[in-house]
Amino acid sequence: MNTKYRDLIEQTFYFPQEEFKLEDNELQFHGIDLMKLVEQYGAPLKFTYLPKISENINRAKEWFKNAIKEHDYKGKYNYCYCTKSSHFEHVLNEALNNDIHIETSSAFDINIVQKLKKSGKLHKDAYVICNGFKRDQYISNIADLLNEGHKNCIPIIDNYEEIDLLSEQIDDPYKIGIRIASEEEPKFEFYTSRLGIGYKNIVPFFNKKVKDNPQVELKMLHFFINTGIRDTAYYWNELNKCLKVYIDLKKVCPSLDSLNIGGGFPIKNSLAFEYDYQYMVSEIVNQIKLTCEEYEVEVPNIFTEFGSFTVGESGGAIYEILYQKQQNDREKWNMINSSFITTLPDTWAISKKFVMLPINRWNDEYERILLGGLTCDSDDYYNSEQNTNAIYLPKYKKEKPLFIGFFNTGAYQESIGGFGGLQHCLIPQPKHILIDKEKDGTLTTKVFSEQQNAEDLLHILGYDRNK
Ligand SMILES: Cc1ncc(COP(=O)(O)O)c(C=O)c1O
Repeated sequence: MNTKYRDLIEQTFYFPQEEFKLEDNELQFHGIDLMKLVEQYGAPLKFTYLPKISENINRAKEWFKNAIKEHDYKGKYNYCYCTKSSHFEHVLNEALNNDIHIETSSAFDINIVQKLKKSGKLHKDAYVICNGFKRDQYISNIADLLNEGHKNCIPIIDNYEEIDLLSEQIDDPYKIGIRIASEEEPKFEFYTSRLGIGYKNIVPFFNKKVKDNPQVELKMLHFFINTGIRDTAYYWNELNKCLKVYIDLKKVCPSLDSLNIGGGFPIKNSLAFEYDYQYMVSEIVNQIKLTCEEYEVEVPNIFTEFGSFTVGESGGAIYEILYQKQQNDREKWNMINSSFITTLPDTWAISKKFVMLPINRWNDEYERILLGGLTCDSDDYYNSEQNTNAIYLPKYKKEKPLFIGFFNTGAYQESIGGFGGLQHCLIPQPKHILIDKEKDGTLTTKVFSEQQNAEDLLHILGYDRNK
C-alpha cells in the first residue's frame, strides 16, 4: 500500500502542476525553493511573488483580446486593478507595469493615486474609477484629482446625494458612472446589495439628476456580483438584467459608452480547481454583443476591476508545526507557530479555503489532522480543504520539523488582518518577504517587514507613549 504523502497527492490530483513541483521531497512554488526560504528567513513568514501579478494581468488581457476578436466586438477592454485587495506599493508598482487602470474604494486611495502619479507610475490618462460610499474626505480628494486635470477620474455614483456633493467641489464638467445594486443570490440573507442604486431606479435617477445637468456626463454603468463571475444561472441572469438597464439607459443617454462588470474572477483555491476563464470571458462578450444587437445600440467598452485575480495568486504564508496535541482517539491537533485568525483572517471570518500543502517531508507517511492557531480562541483553526472534509499532512515527528504553506493568499488578508497593527492574543505578525525575478530568471528575495516584536505592540497599546 502507498502511504507516503506524495502518493496521496499524486493519486488524488493531477500533480505536479504548473506552479507546484517537487524537488527531492520538498515543494517548489513558481520555482521558489520554499525550504531554502524558510532556512534563510525562518517561519512563520509571508511572501509575495511579484511576477505572478503581471502574469495574471496579461492572462486576463489576452482572454479579452481573444474574445473581442472571436466576436468581432467593436468596443475596447480596460483592465482596472481594485486597490483594496492589496494597497502595498510593491503590488501597485508591479501591476502598473502592465498599462492598466485603477479602481478605488475610499478617500486614502486617492492619496495613493496622487503618489503613483507623482512617481510617474500612473499615467495622467489612466482611468481612476472611484467606487464606494463617498464621505467628505473622499469627495474632496476626488474633486482635487479632477480639478488638477485628471479627466479620466470617474466617480461611480453609489447613492442619491453624491452628485450634488461632488458638484459643489468640482470646477469643470466631469464624467460619472452609476452603480447598479445587484440582486443577491437567493440563498443570501438579504435580497438587494446595499451598494449602488436599484435596477428600477436607475433610469428615473438619470432623468432627475443627470439628464439636464450640464456639469455631469454619464459614461459608465457599473455592475458587481458579490459571488463572483461564475458559470451559473444566477450570474447570467444578473448580467442580462444589467444589460437591459444598459440598453434602457443608452436610449435616453447617448454619452453612455462603458459597462463595468466589476471584479470577481476566481482564483485557485485547491489543487482540483478548474475554471474555464477563456470560455467565461468569451461568453460575457458574446452576451453583451447579442443584447446590444437585439436592441440596436452600440456595444459598450468593457471595464473590469479584478482584485483577487490580480494579486491573490502572488501571496503565500509558511508556518512550522510546533507540536501535536492528541485530544481524543480521533482528533490530533497540529499547532502552527502563528494564528489563522490574524494572518489569514478570511479562513476564520468567511471559512475561505486556500491551497494548503506541506513544504517538506513529502516522502513520509501521512495522517489526518486538524490545524490549530496559537491564540486562545477556539475558532483559530483550519480543518478542511476545498474538496474534502479533512486535512492530511506528513506524520508529526518531534525530531523532524514539518513546515506547511498556504498559497494564493495575496488578496485582502493583510488589510483585513490589520497589517502592522494589534494582533489577537498579541501573536506577532510574521515577517514578510518580497520575491522578484531578474531578467535572466534569477529569483531575488528581500525583507519587506520584520516580524513584530514586543516593543511594536506595546507602543500601539500606549505603554511607552508618555516616556
Ligand atoms: C466594486 C468592486 N469592484 C471590484 C472588487 C474586487 O473583487 P475581487 O477581489 O473579487 O476581484 C470588489 C470587491 O469587493 C468590489 O466591491
